[in-house]
Amino acid sequence: MAYDWDRVRPPRSLAEFEQKWLRRHDPACLSGVWRFHELLPFVPLSQVVTIGEGQTLCQESPGVGKYTGLEGGQLYLQYEGLNPSGSFKDNGMAAAFTHARAVGASRAACASTGNTSASLALYCAVTKLMKGVIFIGSGKISYGKLSQALDYGALTVQIAGDFDDAMARVKDVSKELGIYLVNSVNPFRLEGQKTIMFRVLEALRWNPPDWIVVPGGNLGNSSAFGKAFSELKDLGLIPFIPRLAVINAAGANTLFELYQRRGLRWNGGNADLPAVCRYYDELDRDHRRADTIASAIEINRPVNLNKCLRALETCDGVVREVSEQEILDAKAQVGAGGFGCEPASAASVAGARQLIAEGVIGRNDRVVCILTGHQLKDPTATVAYHTTDQAQFNQILGSRGVKRAAFANRAIAVNNDLDEIIKAIQLYS
Ligand code: F0G
Repeated sequence: MAYDWDRVRPPRSLAEFEQKWLRRHDPACLSGVWRFHELLPFVPLSQVVTIGEGQTLCQESPGVGKYTGLEGGQLYLQYEGLNPSGSFKDNGMAAAFTHARAVGASRAACASTGNTSASLALYCAVTKLMKGVIFIGSGKISYGKLSQALDYGALTVQIAGDFDDAMARVKDVSKELGIYLVNSVNPFRLEGQKTIMFRVLEALRWNPPDWIVVPGGNLGNSSAFGKAFSELKDLGLIPFIPRLAVINAAGANTLFELYQRRGLRWNGGNADLPAVCRYYDELDRDHRRADTIASAIEINRPVNLNKCLRALETCDGVVREVSEQEILDAKAQVGAGGFGCEPASAASVAGARQLIAEGVIGRNDRVVCILTGHQLKDPTATVAYHTTDQAQFNQILGSRGVKRAAFANRAIAVNNDLDEIIKAIQLYS
């Protein structure tokens, strides 16, 4: 999607957006998405849909910074879990709902690993503009997310299969029944998700960081971030474009495999897409399915792969994969030194740590890790890591190569006896 900037008149400086802070009584100025309307002007401001998304924070975390190995530098965490449905998806959903209403849709559908569906269900429940239909893989969605879809009243279709199966199906069904599709194949979703970067810049007083590090699943965020920076640079609103690191879970590493190992590139819009098809054929032939504790990014066929390649070129990007152990350890460090996050989000911190150890990210750099989802989205993973022994962990989550919970904070079992309780507290504190 491209704008004719001569017609829509963008701001002369990003600092102009600060004027909106004085008009926070207006929902369109309060929204962390629509406050930046001039940079996603695909409908008039009077027609936007908002439920108060984007009130998120970008904060420095010295503790997590130390864990990643930054020395003189600064590590910031962008908490997208603070959105109304608890994940970054609300940024894109506000934009997709705005477009869906503009075209008169009465039903909206998505396939989801849980967060898109929670967001869609919430926007349906609050706005009453549309009926939500969501497709999820069986046994593939964390309870926090499933409970949201059910509670908000969306029609929930559980498919025998995983996210990649559900994604393929929802495309067919939406076409057949004329239902508006809100997965991130929808370009309006990405317009909304650009604003995550605008808020990062806002928090850093409009100075771009050296690095943005983001988990990669369906690759909507990374694509949206690349588009945001490319537009800002073209408009002369930022002095340089930060570098982008996209982090896959090792058990769902299509982007890592294709970009980092096999050298797939955007190539001026002529990426070698037959090579992608050949890779998918290999996956099918070997019966390889995405498999990671970071269920949000358990995806082998990312729908935005091509757009992400462009973002990686725009932002001189790199891709890494992180193990289950690295994800869970990083997640515990985010919990101990920040507001917490779900496993997929912690891939960003684990990836930053890897890149700093390699010397790709400098120890003095300014780095922003995007925490895409709230800590409470997946309590099973958190509790399994902290309070169980190895055998119990394996029983709950499967062994997954996690050998030790390096930062476990185990609950202490005591009898309901005053002396024993006091002794235990003295012993452990
Ligand atoms: N982090 C979280 C918490 C997510 O829910 C997702 C995607 C991602 C990262 C990956 O982002 O797709 O832009 O690369 N969740 C989707 C869903 C697939 O259905 O909720 P991406």
